[in-house]
Amino acid sequence: MCGIVGYVGKKNCLKTIIDGIKALEYRGYDSVGVAYFRDDDISIIKDKGRIMDLEKKIDTNIETKIGIGHTRWATHGEPSKVNAHPHRVNKITLVHNGIIENYDEIRTELIKYGYEFKSDTDTEVLCAYIDYLYSKNNDMIKSLSMLKDKIKGSYATCILCSDDKEHLYIVKKGSPLILGTSNDEYIIASDIAAIIDKTKRYMILDDDEIGIISGNGYEICDSDLKVIKKDILTFDKNIDKISKDGYDHFMLKEIYEEDDLIKKTLSYYLNNDLLKDLPDLSKYKEIYIVGCGSAYNAGLVGKYYIENYLNIPVYVEIASEFRYKKLFINDESLVIAISQSGETADTIEAVNIAKKYKAKTIGIVNTYKSTIARISDEVIYINAGIEVAVATTKAYSLQVLYLILLSLRNKGIDKNIINKISNDIKEVYEIDYKELAKKISNKEHIFFIGRGIDYYLAIEGSLKLKEISYIHAECYAAGELKHGTISLIDKGTPVISVITNKDISSKTISNIKEVKARGAYVILVCTDDIVVDKDIYDDIIIVPSDEVMSPILSIIGLQLLSYYVAKDKGCDIDKPRNLAKSVTVE
Ligand code: AGP
Repeated sequence: MCGIVGYVGKKNCLKTIIDGIKALEYRGYDSVGVAYFRDDDISIIKDKGRIMDLEKKIDTNIETKIGIGHTRWATHGEPSKVNAHPHRVNKITLVHNGIIENYDEIRTELIKYGYEFKSDTDTEVLCAYIDYLYSKNNDMIKSLSMLKDKIKGSYATCILCSDDKEHLYIVKKGSPLILGTSNDEYIIASDIAAIIDKTKRYMILDDDEIGIISGNGYEICDSDLKVIKKDILTFDKNIDKISKDGYDHFMLKEIYEEDDLIKKTLSYYLNNDLLKDLPDLSKYKEIYIVGCGSAYNAGLVGKYYIENYLNIPVYVEIASEFRYKKLFINDESLVIAISQSGETADTIEAVNIAKKYKAKTIGIVNTYKSTIARISDEVIYINAGIEVAVATTKAYSLQVLYLILLSLRNKGIDKNIINKISNDIKEVYEIDYKELAKKISNKEHIFFIGRGIDYYLAIEGSLKLKEISYIHAECYAAGELKHGTISLIDKGTPVISVITNKDISSKTISNIKEVKARGAYVILVCTDDIVVDKDIYDDIIIVPSDEVMSPILSIIGLQLLSYYVAKDKGCDIDKPRNLAKSVTVE
């Protein structure tokens, strides 16, 4: 997703801005740029490609105290220099995160007023519209307050006006924007990662709020132009310096953090008898879980646990579908929104819709004070720490863990699980995935199958593989394969089958035999309590069995298998092509 950074202060700004956009790299991007006041005008340096390439074109010693920066994840217009941010139209230069849904209509209008457009982007239209408003009333704050009446969609922007070399302007609606402050230095960014090296003190802008910032201070006003006071928050998490700590990739580091994170979470709730601090789901007649991608996949696993342990129907919905379908929720419903970033546009809107129906909302999020954390009635922080790799691993596993804890809140969990899980995860870490990965890394198509909870785990396993190795991986309910898809199974087609649930293992084994009979190359991922004949699989990953934690153990195995496949292919594992860490647009 796009990332924006702005700086106003006593120091030269370009180094801070570049450091800030580097810290936002994990959000995914395809082009990058900076703009800054210099002499009597605004300079812009931008291009398609990586920050490290742009950096070579920038002299960070230039005397300039106000600037903006941007990493672009293309939504309107291909990745190119002309489409990269910052955009400038006459007196206005800006960077933008979000989507202007009615940009076409506004562009047509502005062309009638004589505006010409160089790029294909919605951002250039936003820039031109602000220039148009400013040309009419010669007042930046007033102009920015008028955006909400015209602009449909989302925006978080840092804006420079060539008439005012002392100030940087900010305004947001829908997309996240924070203002960090430290000793008369102000850093504006899309999220905390971009400012944390400079300050842990920050404010969160709310929709339609406008900021005007100079080296001598700042003012925030609401959409009625009333000056307001914002709480200054302190990011109190011991944010680990974002480094790989010797691992080849952030993804591998984050997989190896799962052991400690899961053990700490279980210890916190079980050793202090705090399970009851978690919300009691048993009082609800029905529960909806909404999320996107892996967060949705975690919700599927949660469905299995909540339905089986609390006997409550759970409906897991892809947030972007939930937003537009006929809903049967009411004030007796619970809607759980799962989101690592807490900023996924579709999941945010799903929560807003749930609130309109008077449903109770709980956010299970990783990012402190993120939008979903703030708009939900209750929030559960998974405390997974900053997850840099675009492909989620530790956050997914902790989302699943919290859903397990919620489903067992009243039943309780034996404390012995704490030591056992740590040993079990270590066993999963010790399996040799590299040789196995080599056998499938050259494949074009790979199938995943499973039943019940194993199907849900296999769905996440297939997403992990495809998003970092670019291999086409599809997951099917094991019993469904023979209703058409089995026609795709040919000699040597890899089929990865997941079995952790003993109760239905025999059925899945039958399905494995069906694909084996057609020449498939079967990799079985199962727990050590599953009895299988050696002739039904070609390779096997055995993980320890545990009544409660088997899903997490098997998914860690699938995460590592995917990692080594992608590594064998030489893929850009932490920043896969086309992907963004936080999809803050529809
Ligand atoms: C996970 O590997 C993916 N990168 C993606 O599916 C992600 O889970 C999804 O975009 C949801 O993000 P969120 O958890 O921040 O809402």
